Amino acid sequence: MKSARIVAVANQKGGVAKTTTAINLAAALAALGNRTLLVDVDPQGNLTSGVGCKGQRGPSGGTYEALTADDQSAPADFTIKTGYENLWLMPADRNLTGAELELVAMPHREERLKTLLNPLREHFDFIILDCPPSLGLLTLNGLVAADSVLVPLHCEYFALEGLAELLGTLKRVRASLNPALDVEGVLLTMYDDRTNLGQQVASDVRGFFGDKVFRTVIPRNVRLAEAPSHGVPAVTYDPRSRGADAYQQLANEFLARRLSAASTDNSL
Ligand SMILES: Nc1ncnc2c1ncn2[C@@H]1O[C@H](COP(=O)(O)OP(=O)(O)OP(=O)(O)O)[C@@H](O)[C@H]1O
Ligand SMILES: [Mg+2]
Repeated sequence: MKSARIVAVANQKGGVAKTTTAINLAAALAALGNRTLLVDVDPQGNLTSGVGCKGQRGPSGGTYEALTADDQSAPADFTIKTGYENLWLMPADRNLTGAELELVAMPHREERLKTLLNPLREHFDFIILDCPPSLGLLTLNGLVAADSVLVPLHCEYFALEGLAELLGTLKRVRASLNPALDVEGVLLTMYDDRTNLGQQVASDVRGFFGDKVFRTVIPRNVRLAEAPSHGVPAVTYDPRSRGADAYQQLANEFLARRLSAASTDNSL
């Protein structure tokens, strides 16, 4: 029987390529034959529109309804099949903003997503969560539900800024609600090899995180920026572009790391 690995793509900093990474990693894994569920945990709904599902809902709704429902016993009813083979989605839109407030009053408010997703593990190889740019209750639900966190870092001047806060949150989550939370890896995104700054940031990040940093680096590439407006993952939109190629490499590295994970230490 399958037991999906749940990976939260998180960084409270905005615009570091969380959604781009969630979409393209998931689409590449799906294209390689892995049954993959994307979960949109961000009220911006960029993940949902990025896979061409804006405005679509499962039979019982999307992430908002799933998190706030009294009855969470049929979690598949909050998901839809995307137009891509092996790729499903729990969609979100603006109304998910309300969940952040409504959850506050609910019992086990940090564990709602975990409770919801656990029964879905047997249907998927991977479940990938796209978290919003904050460390509020939605991201917390993501980190509690996840087996691991993948942290995209934009290769720019303040790449490491705010990271202490994220690492502090991971530590607190491990100390209380999710002791087994791993770090899947740190991913360098929007890398521009023509600038010394990009190279300097990449080398600083590798110095800090060592082999937790994926060898694959995602270059700045216009195809990655264009694809979402067509509602198509870049790995499908222009598979031969540098950006799509990098995400395909990331998927291969991710799978190779999974195979050798048993022997590695996954703390930061
Ligand atoms: N490698 C890249 N090259 C060029 N543009 C990129 C690249 N990665 C992402 N982008 C673009 O940068 C913007 C921010 O990316 P994205 O939405 O994935 O970030 P995010 O971390 O999810 O943002 P938010 O914090 O708002 O959720 C988007 O317009 C996206 O298309
Ligand atoms: Mg996003």
